[in-house]
Amino acid sequence: MSNHRPASHSTHYDVIIIGAGASGLYCALTAGRRGRRVLVLDHANKAGKKILMSGGGRCNFTNYVVEPSHFIGDNPHFCKSALSRYSNWEFIGMVAAHHIPYHEREHGQLFCDDSAQDIVTMLLDECAAAGVHIKLSTQIDGVKPIDSANSARFELSTSRSLSKKEKQARKEATSSPTLPQTTYRCESLVVATGGLSIPTMGASGLGYELAQQFGHTLVATDASLVPFTFTDQTGELIRSLAGISLPVIASNERISFRLPLLFTHRGLSGPAMLQLSNYWHTGETIRINLLPDTDMTALLLAHKKSHPRQLVRTVLADHTTSPLPKKLLSALQAHLWDDIKETELANIKDERLLELGAALNSWQLKPSGTEGYRTAEVTRGGVTTDEVSSKTMQSNLQEGLYFIGEVLDVTGWLGGYNFQWAWASGHVCGEVV
Ligand code: FDA
Repeated sequence: MSNHRPASHSTHYDVIIIGAGASGLYCALTAGRRGRRVLVLDHANKAGKKILMSGGGRCNFTNYVVEPSHFIGDNPHFCKSALSRYSNWEFIGMVAAHHIPYHEREHGQLFCDDSAQDIVTMLLDECAAAGVHIKLSTQIDGVKPIDSANSARFELSTSRSLSKKEKQARKEATSSPTLPQTTYRCESLVVATGGLSIPTMGASGLGYELAQQFGHTLVATDASLVPFTFTDQTGELIRSLAGISLPVIASNERISFRLPLLFTHRGLSGPAMLQLSNYWHTGETIRINLLPDTDMTALLLAHKKSHPRQLVRTVLADHTTSPLPKKLLSALQAHLWDDIKETELANIKDERLLELGAALNSWQLKPSGTEGYRTAEVTRGGVTTDEVSSKTMQSNLQEGLYFIGEVLDVTGWLGGYNFQWAWASGHVCGEVV
């Protein structure tokens, strides 16, 4: 008999959750507290990796103001039930009960004072107290529905996930032993595999594949809460201003955000751009009001009358409510009014001043794309919510199958909303599985 034969054993749980991230852990602790036997499986070697890297290491875990309008998806009503049944105050209460110090930043965002590790530790402690089993470094090789006498509905075949080094060694070896497999059975299967952003942190498309396997439809996915990139002259201009940050109003036909903009070596970032990216589709133009507190057309025309000998740059430098950084002003001059930079206002036609005012209050830019999943905070789109119960997160197509968190077509704004969705959807699911 071959000594390469895989060792195999079977284990039965009430609930198996694929994904030890934000929503999976919250669902697990909720179901565990109800006395359900819960197993969480994850291919990563650590639970909650995205929580750990979130909010610059301090995890913006929720927001003081959570409204359904802070979320997007094909069905904007889907998130309402879960968000109302599990509010931000419940999560804040848990954080307080664990004596985790936190603080509020602008727009009601709540961050840990010390480290995002506090949130992961809290979730893992709650899971342990609820008797939840967590198995990391586990690859899901297949899921199949079964008809069993002891109420199990799903069978999962798994094997140990390999490190990069191990994968390479197996590739190079002429023959390598079959990996030991473990088969699990469960009554309820929860898919909490998140989105596609930051593949190096364990993101994979497994959740979408499973959804399709069971007949679900996917809403096209795209990187979101992500910086914009630009090519050509605009790209050059933007790159030359890397490091400059200023408050702007960023908008398109659907939405506008008054938030900081950041010029980077790769394009435009900062909260204003990340928020707008949730509402942007390839090929669309965005608008940036660089001087949100000044009506530039009115100002230039007024100064033409009152100070006809002034130059455009003087008006911009000395008379706007919050003057632009000098480097940005020079770059804009070179870009927008180089030909009239030494011309007195009196000698500039009104139409040109109107044009200039519009360019400054509504700078129109066409991003060539975004930085993509490599740096995106979230994935927009996912499992369509039309085929999932908004009250329980159970699939309408397969009894016992649930989807929670980012894998669903629910995407939150920047500001702690994506975690609030993860906690809320995890909670309502954990109450019923
Ligand atoms: P999450 O991604 O948390 O968990 C999915 C889990 O499934 C992972 O543990 C993964 O390893 C596992 N998995 C995936 N594929 C698998 C497979 N094939 N087999 C087994 N396991 C698999 N949000 C917010 O509200 N405030 C913030 O401050 C931030 N900051 C932030 C920073 C950065 C850099 C990123 C990338 C994201 C954020 N977010 C955020 C977004 C937030 O992290 C995200 O929306 C939630 O973590 C989503 O929770 P989920 O449980 O759905 O997925």
